[in-house]
Amino acid sequence: MSYLDIEKRYKRGPQIITRKDAAVIVSETGLCPQWKCLDLGGGSGFLSLFLANLVPKGSVTTYEKKKEHAEIIKNNVKLSGFKNVKVINKPAERFAGKGFDLVTADMKGTEKLVKKIHTALKLGGYFAVYSPHIEQQMACKKTMEKVFKKIRTIETIQREWKIDTRGFTHPVPSQVVHTGYVTIARK
Ligand SMILES: C[S@@+](CC[C@H](N)C(=O)[O-])C[C@H]1O[C@@H](n2cnc3c(N)ncnc32)[C@H](O)[C@@H]1O
Repeated sequence: MSYLDIEKRYKRGPQIITRKDAAVIVSETGLCPQWKCLDLGGGSGFLSLFLANLVPKGSVTTYEKKKEHAEIIKNNVKLSGFKNVKVINKPAERFAGKGFDLVTADMKGTEKLVKKIHTALKLGGYFAVYSPHIEQQMACKKTMEKVFKKIRTIETIQREWKIDTRGFTHPVPSQVVHTGYVTIARK
């Protein structure tokens, strides 16, 4: 059984983060199994659950303001069988708690929460913000620069190839080119 077999069970509501973009958060932070994570703008719960699978000794708390989306996440948590995810149906602006190793955000208006997120992180903790639009990343970076030091913005482009060992080889002609950007900062 792979995590991908578990993920197939989930229902989709709002647009999810792709695995390649979730993976860059993992690779650029060095996520560890005991990490305490906070995910703001839970959506369909795909990012929360992707992280939860990788922090079996830790936890993921997610805030989702819309009741119907929070219900989708709760149902997906049930389908995953994971016990380390807490879903809170409240606006992210009201998140509580401190000592997080990782805070992720995939929602409009994240830039207004940067200072609060910085305070809630452990020293050495990471903040990763995902969005499909560079303007949202720029708005976040402007505020991040006031409190964080190492800040990087990454776009991960993945191209699949069709390899024909008896004929011609080329990239699969029609593919998704753009998904989004991830800006990562460390406290
Ligand atoms: C694009 S979806 C997130 C998808 C999620 N990362 C996933 O992989 O399934 C954005 C979500 O953020 C929620 N949202 C927007 N503003 C919010 C806020 N201020 N507080 C909490 N949730 C918010 C929306 O309702 C929506 O469900």
